[in-house]
Amino acid sequence: MRVTVTVNDQVRVADGVRATESLLTMLRERLGLMGTKNACEQGECGSCTVYLDGEVVCSCLVAAGQVEGRRVRTVEGLATGGAPDRVQRAFVEAGAVQCGFCTPGLVVATHDLLARNADPSDAEIREALAGNLCRCTGYEKILDAVHLAAEGRT
Ligand code: FES
Ligand code: FES
Repeated sequence: MRVTVTVNDQVRVADGVRATESLLTMLRERLGLMGTKNACEQGECGSCTVYLDGEVVCSCLVAAGQVEGRRVRTVEGLATGGAPDRVQRAFVEAGAVQCGFCTPGLVVATHDLLARNADPSDAEIREALAGNLCRCTGYEKILDAVHLAAEGRT
């Protein structure tokens, strides 16, 4: 099938999409957006987090055919004019990126959190990011990154 979707403010067309194909696969393999990661494909890790019509979703759990005519924003779409946004800068500056596999999903989830809560507590951050698993950092640097982004010190 053919899917027409607005991704990062650009209308994109994906041809040959299979009925069982996920939004994650379509983004990576048909639209060339490799920032969104595939770690579990079961909705367990959050590495595939994107915005769909302004709500964060696990793109591995969304059928590509369901996004016809809708709006998707990926981690690539958070940058402005090629410059990383404050959350992306904060993750780098706080040392919250090790292997980096979890990072795009965490960046999108953090972006969403800060849009709803400009100054979240540690508990609020842990709750908001509970669906995003990181095997490397122990999460402390991630908390630091969220606070750094919230404070606008990047
Ligand atoms: S790849 Fe989608 S939640 Fe893990
Ligand atoms: S930095 Fe490796 S999984 Fe998070």
